[in-house]
Amino acid sequence: MQIFIKTPDQIDLMRQSGHLLAQVHAELHQALRPGMSTLEIDTLGEELIRKMGGIPNCKNYEGFPGSICISINEEVVHGIPSADRILQEGDIVTFDTGLIYKGWHSDAARTWGVGSISPEKKQLIDVTKQSFFEGIKKARAGNRLYEISKAVDQYVTKYGYGIVHELTGHGIGQSLHEDPNVPNYRQIRRGIKLQKGMTICVEPMITMGKRYVGWLDDDWTVVTVDGLPAAHYENTIVITDDEPEILTMLEDEE
Ligand code: MF3
Ligand code: CO
Repeated sequence: MQIFIKTPDQIDLMRQSGHLLAQVHAELHQALRPGMSTLEIDTLGEELIRKMGGIPNCKNYEGFPGSICISINEEVVHGIPSADRILQEGDIVTFDTGLIYKGWHSDAARTWGVGSISPEKKQLIDVTKQSFFEGIKKARAGNRLYEISKAVDQYVTKYGYGIVHELTGHGIGQSLHEDPNVPNYRQIRRGIKLQKGMTICVEPMITMGKRYVGWLDDDWTVVTVDGLPAAHYENTIVITDDEPEILTMLEDEE
């Protein structure tokens, strides 16, 4: 395992990268309307990222064809943007994307309702988001990694939701995926000791029903096996001696 501790100057560059990404997410949320295709969102997202001087880090990642992973309802992550996928009122949709700015990556995901959605879907989105905040309460120097995983798990499990095991959060920096992995379910091993200057992505992927997922024939789209909806919430954070700093969230963001 190789974990890169970032210097204050490097963290400042990641902060700039993260701030740009947070703006991209805010603009995508504003643009979201029933009737849009997921390709339109992808095109808008790529334009925004490039206009800011960033490079979309999903594009061509292991051959991924888009800049934004767009996953609807029972799709958990890594949905491929398409002109044929039209968002409908009542859907929930996840935008998972990142960018490289001056060589430094940021990565964040949000799940939104399209128009008005059922109370069940709304709760799934809210609990998924809150589970991130429960997890990062434990993300501080001196704690062990498994405390984050445990906090997410305990919070989510209270609601009877499923936690995806096959995909995890991750370290981030000059690469999109660095060590360590950051699981969202309870771990037996305590894992690494967190240190000031570590930069990680915490990203619970939560299902309304069972936790089991499969891959579609496109080899990318991850879906729930039971067909029930899933939500995802992710930010890039920096470990400090105190509360972590969230790099990919705007100050006035709800
Ligand atoms: N941000 C996502 C992740 O960390 C997307 C990676 S790139 C993609 O897994 F190719 F999968 F889009
Ligand atoms: Co990620």
